Amino acid sequence: MSSTVWASLKQQASTAISLRQEFAQDPKRAAKFQATACGIHLDFSKNLITDSIWQSLLKLATQSDIQRKAQQMQQGDKINNTEQRAVWHMALRAEAGQPLLLDGVDLEPEIAQCRSQMASLITQLHQGEYLGYQGQAITDLIWIGIGGSLLGPQMACEALLPYNQSPVRIHFAGNIDGAVVSDVVKGLNPATTLVFVASKSFGTEETKQNALAVRQWFTDNGADKAAIAQHFWATSSNIKAAAEFGIVAEHILPMWDWVGGRYSLWSAIGFPVALQLGMAQFEQLLAGARAMDQHFYAAPFEQNLPVILALLGVWYINAKGCQAQALLPYSHYLRLLPSYVQQLDMESNGKSVDVDGQPLRLDTAPVIWGDAGTNGQHAYHQLLHQSALAVPSDFILPAKVSHELTDHHHRLAAHCFAQTQALMQGKTFDEAKAEVLATGAPEAEAIALAPHKVSPGNKPSNTLLLPELSPYYLGALIALYEHKVFCQGVLWNINSFDQWGVELGKQLSTPIYQVLSGQKESRFDASTEALIATFNQFRNS
Ligand code: F6P
Repeated sequence: MSSTVWASLKQQASTAISLRQEFAQDPKRAAKFQATACGIHLDFSKNLITDSIWQSLLKLATQSDIQRKAQQMQQGDKINNTEQRAVWHMALRAEAGQPLLLDGVDLEPEIAQCRSQMASLITQLHQGEYLGYQGQAITDLIWIGIGGSLLGPQMACEALLPYNQSPVRIHFAGNIDGAVVSDVVKGLNPATTLVFVASKSFGTEETKQNALAVRQWFTDNGADKAAIAQHFWATSSNIKAAAEFGIVAEHILPMWDWVGGRYSLWSAIGFPVALQLGMAQFEQLLAGARAMDQHFYAAPFEQNLPVILALLGVWYINAKGCQAQALLPYSHYLRLLPSYVQQLDMESNGKSVDVDGQPLRLDTAPVIWGDAGTNGQHAYHQLLHQSALAVPSDFILPAKVSHELTDHHHRLAAHCFAQTQALMQGKTFDEAKAEVLATGAPEAEAIALAPHKVSPGNKPSNTLLLPELSPYYLGALIALYEHKVFCQGVLWNINSFDQWGVELGKQLSTPIYQVLSGQKESRFDASTEALIATFNQFRNS
């Protein structure tokens, strides 16, 4: 980051700001700090920024590599430098029919072919024409995958439930906790169940183990090799491993090494979404994301939603020392969005070295957490309002809804706006005291109680308003967060597209598993050994 601008930001960060005063002094503040793109409206006026801070942040963006790196991403340069891969998920949502040249090869026909395989399977499933090994129509789909091969489709299927037009029920199995697969197959009939093994690598332990368990369930129910071949599909870039598992070539939908797991919703990993919505609405999801891509590449920084969110994030993490960020969708259907963005943001930018492997001097990704409002108001919002921590929060609210309980929606929206207002303005001692006095309490009691009722305010938030939670706006919203994460990665000069940190735990689990399953004896640190011993003792008692 430019050192002069950065020094000025650090210096400005030490001056206290009163958001109450900022709003009182500047009637244009709300109009100034807002932007709209692809139908999504962002109010960022309730942030701890002044005109001067905002200008410095914009300068930071202008002097950064955002534009150059964005262009490199778009033209398919291998910006994932530790894996020598392009970062090209945007190609999957590009306008149909236009050439998509990567390393001189037009990938458009391959992408279109994958899409048409998806479409044809979906039509057969919707029309009850895809028959199982006993000649019955398929009624259920089990989607086995984890991380990026699960979170996106699961979140989007939940989010777009009102658009469901599939007679086939969809079940997700991710965790290696045996309870998941056991519960999923309960009540299902293998003869009417289709299985999708979703794994870019086809080497992920959880997915392999769950796929084996489901295959065993088929075998236990009398399915032979041919029956299994008929019921199992995969989406993977490791065709060989999928084939070795017993999945026939015509049932393997491609994945490409230029699509990262957490950016793969737009590929055949989005199959459950397409199955649920139908292909036309799935195209709308892609169209929304494409519109956000176009906005990101064309809009000036001061109106560029991903850039704005990225700059505010950097301001809080690096200048104000905030380590967490809450994602608070005021929408039941968006309740899985925080989990999805957790992987997107924390797996991408949770790094401590720069692109060249040099130690970073700045913190990177925030700890993302959150859940649907208003539930959190009766749980953790107390901390947001009154603790000394500042947790910048993104409130997300769709304006139109699919249900008919209008009064519910007005109340939900009122709470959403009230939370951002309460966080921003807080409650002073005098206000709290006056409130207690108004109940008829004596002065002494009011003075004693008032400090407990004080809220410091000045707690920052963004509010994102969506016209409605449709496939189009969901696509745009996801792409907004993708590009925000990209911009922050550029500002920190890190590779947002690898995830080496997850490997160590995977490696260490193998020898522990070998000991637990009685295959080997091994020595570990004293804590791990003692835990294994107690675990075994509990299991055998
Ligand atoms: O372990 C992390 C990770 O590699 C994620 O990045 C990825 O989304 C997930 O595992 C699943 O990987 P795969 O699709 O190869 O099974």
